[in-house]
Amino acid sequence: MSGTITVNTDQPAGTISRHIYGHFAEHLGRCIYEGIWVGEDSPIPNTRGIRNDVLEALRKLSIPVLRWPGGCFADEYHWKDGVGPREQRKRMVNTHWGGVVENNHFGTHEFFDLCELLDTEPYICGNVGSGTVQEMQEWVEYMTFDGESPMANWRKENGREKPWKLKYFGVGNENWGCGGNMRAEYYADEYRRFQTYVRNYGERRLYKVAGGANVDDYHWTEVLMREAAGHMDGLSLHNYTVPGGFEIKRPALGFDEAEWFETMQLSLRMDELITRHSAIMDQYDPEKRVGMIVDEWGTWFQVEPGTNPGFLYQQNSLRDALVAGLHFHVFHRHCDRVHMANIAQTVNVLQAMILTDGADMILTPTYHVFEMFKVHQDAEALALHLETGEYEWNGESIPQVSASASRRADGTIDISLCNVDPNREAPVQLRLRGLAGTPAISGRVLTHADMNAHNTFDQPETVKPEVFEGITNISADGLSAALPPMSVVVLTLRS
Ligand code: AHR
Repeated sequence: MSGTITVNTDQPAGTISRHIYGHFAEHLGRCIYEGIWVGEDSPIPNTRGIRNDVLEALRKLSIPVLRWPGGCFADEYHWKDGVGPREQRKRMVNTHWGGVVENNHFGTHEFFDLCELLDTEPYICGNVGSGTVQEMQEWVEYMTFDGESPMANWRKENGREKPWKLKYFGVGNENWGCGGNMRAEYYADEYRRFQTYVRNYGERRLYKVAGGANVDDYHWTEVLMREAAGHMDGLSLHNYTVPGGFEIKRPALGFDEAEWFETMQLSLRMDELITRHSAIMDQYDPEKRVGMIVDEWGTWFQVEPGTNPGFLYQQNSLRDALVAGLHFHVFHRHCDRVHMANIAQTVNVLQAMILTDGADMILTPTYHVFEMFKVHQDAEALALHLETGEYEWNGESIPQVSASASRRADGTIDISLCNVDPNREAPVQLRLRGLAGTPAISGRVLTHADMNAHNTFDQPETVKPEVFEGITNISADGLSAALPPMSVVVLTLRS
């Protein structure tokens, strides 16, 4: 038996914030422009400039929160360039991403329109690196003040009478790097100063996110928590899964088992990073008031051949699906501290949900994991004990199976499972402790015989969820199932 999983249905282990299933869309490559925004005059069917096919697909993910406008772009973005009549908006150079012209047609009003169309919460990232305190203050006033003021009046002149609902506000991005190359000590002071003027108007309270560490920069977390914890609601963390490392990077397709193994191993590193950053946060915030906001995560491969290196356009295979599943399980385990996570990025960039080519659109394997796992959003995590065999490669090993269980408000229990071994099925025995009666069980699986399997514009359904037929036995105690090699499975138990 390669896995025994005991789900303690009577032992809640915290709430899995729906914001863990958050997204990130930057003015980078073809994410915003073409991927989301095509403009009102486009032949591609759209709603006020936002393409309908992408909207419809994203709605099915119940995206809880969307981070914008960057990323590195955020610290070069001047929001006033992106409001008012579109034809009069300033054209600028997107110096960070490809040196292309940014015509500012997608700005504050368009972003909030997108959020309203998706029924998602906006998460705005402000400019610390090249912006001013006044600029940030005025943006918040423009977006959220419901009264008479220069910025609120300007918003109204631009067609929006009422302020928008905004809760999440990031004070800079990667300020240790593209956001100003600051030292932790310097940024901590800058954070304190900028956030002072990120005002709360009326009853509304903003949730202020301080720019956090890069990967394992524990010093950054230590300094930010020591110097500024009392001024923040969240502290971010960025970590990408980059086989080969940033200097080399590997192709998104055409990989072998060595790269498969490395990718899985790197994904599991997220657990170590959260554990160690959390331990530091615990010293200053034992009540866990400050949320860890993993607002950039996902795979980072070489760009597709022939595409602009600054556009970060990569294909997405079954491997990415497993990466997503493993990350979600880590975030669930740390749901007491991880309040939000945002995959990079929603469309056409890095580990995307959707790829577009002109008027065409395909869903990636990662999209399907987000769709299958959305049952965990805001559900109650259940304590789970996992004993699993190992997946060994070249003298190293990682656990073959990863699992997570939660209970929805209506009592339905969902158990998600990943088998990362590309060669071996994983027979698992699931014990359901504390559950009266035998539930009705159904399941879905995402898998393929080829680790490089992916969807293309010619064959868009190579990787898609199927009914899971691997349940071999159901009893009063639980069930037995066989997880195919390289698979993501979600089981649903209804009493
Ligand atoms: O997601 C791409 C880039 O990665 C973001 O702009 C930046 O914050 C990070 O380095």
